[in-house]
Amino acid sequence: MKKPVEIAPAQGKLGILLVGLGAVSTTFIAGVMAVRKGISKPIGSMTQMGGIRLGKRTDGRTPLVKDFVPLADLNDIVFGGWDIFEDNVYESAKHAGVLDDRLLEQIRPELEAIKPWKAVFDRQYVKRLDGPNVKTGKNKLDLADQVVQDIRAFKQEHNLARLVMIWCGSTEIFMTESPAHESIEAFEKALEASDPSIPSSMVYAYAAIKEGIPFANGAPNLTADIPALLDLAQQKQVPLCGKDFKTGQTLIKTVIAPGLKARLLGVEGWYSTNILGNRDGEVLDDPESFKTKEESKKSVLDYILQPDLYPDLYKDLCHVVRINYYPPRGDNKEGWDNIDLVGWLGYPMQLKINFLCRDSILAAPIVLDLVLFMDLAKRAGWSGIQEWLSFFFKSPQHAKGLYPEHDLFIQSMKLKNTLRYLMGEDLITHLGAEYYD
Ligand SMILES: NC(=O)c1ccc[n+]([C@@H]2O[C@H](COP(=O)([O-])OP(=O)(O)OC[C@H]3O[C@@H](n4cnc5c(N)ncnc54)[C@H](O)[C@@H]3O)[C@@H](O)[C@H]2O)c1
Repeated sequence: MKKPVEIAPAQGKLGILLVGLGAVSTTFIAGVMAVRKGISKPIGSMTQMGGIRLGKRTDGRTPLVKDFVPLADLNDIVFGGWDIFEDNVYESAKHAGVLDDRLLEQIRPELEAIKPWKAVFDRQYVKRLDGPNVKTGKNKLDLADQVVQDIRAFKQEHNLARLVMIWCGSTEIFMTESPAHESIEAFEKALEASDPSIPSSMVYAYAAIKEGIPFANGAPNLTADIPALLDLAQQKQVPLCGKDFKTGQTLIKTVIAPGLKARLLGVEGWYSTNILGNRDGEVLDDPESFKTKEESKKSVLDYILQPDLYPDLYKDLCHVVRINYYPPRGDNKEGWDNIDLVGWLGYPMQLKINFLCRDSILAAPIVLDLVLFMDLAKRAGWSGIQEWLSFFFKSPQHAKGLYPEHDLFIQSMKLKNTLRYLMGEDLITHLGAEYYD
């Protein structure tokens, strides 16, 4: 046993600030309420259902993660959020069509009580959407101040001890770093000048960080992944993580690809296509928003397969990703993968995967785990990029000069070892030589 990291206790209520109260957010909120009432089980949530082995395999110590690390209790969570539509969470959940009426009716009053605050929104960054519940202001700095006022009022109204913000809003158009993102000074000047290089998501992230609130990004947008906000997060002692929840097709990709690579099987081609009919699918039908998503989905294979190290196996890999907006399917996405493999002596093989998944059902437990872990990180005094949370993301944020870790099994090991480290337990290397001494 080593000395555990000092962690402030999870006393009082934890406020979750959700940017965007659409399919993912409402499925998350309704799910937590249903679990609290004992109506449903938190399936898919690592913090609620996962165990963690401690010590030797022969020790028989595998507590639940939630009993091992001091996380906030689900009963202490309070929800708030912004959206460009005025629908309360019950109405928005009905619109999303993910959860059935039988469940929603049992928690209807609590869901109806959550009404979105006016959003910071500009169609320039999400072309396929428009809504009435939007803030107006002198400039983007003024809008950030208004977000801060919303946060403070929420904190006071519910007597909250701590807060976490998570972006569950629509995917913004593809953007790259620009001079306005390079330093806090340049960023604040750009906010004041309402510079177009500052999309709405950065306004929220800036407000959160300024208030000392951990910020997680569930979409592939650039958002807090810029030097100005990374520096501000260090200054304000704020943990950050992102980007883009790892659900559906990419989750499966990061399970299968490490397996093929571990057995040195070549891959000539990987064709991935999806049909999706929810509002996310509609937004991603815009080529500029799709590009943000495409970059996020495509990078995964390059990093896992490492074509530079294994040119004979992966040099000419043809990786294609498509998302087709198809309204009849709603949130029930269908993904197909065709993988063209190469085996011993160059003989070709094929693997086909057809995943009939539910996007928000896969994303909701990730939102829960992320907000609880981000609150834990803050209480442990950690700040900046929380790479140990890569497990939950398609495009994990990482330090400059490092490549991101995409392999789900390495990510899982890293996450669990981080929890062991936090609590002063021995890290598990899987060497296992001690059993044969
Ligand atoms: N469901 C998944 O499996 C999954 C996986 C990875 C990433 N994501 C991402 O998570 C995000 C949410 O997905 P969803 O299915 O809930 O989409 P959704 O369209 O149902 O919900 C997004 C909500 O955000 C709102 N919004 C957009 N811009 C906003 C702004 N500036 N301020 C406040 N609200 C704003 C929209 O009005 C909408 O209600 C999307 O960016 C999506 O790409 C989802």
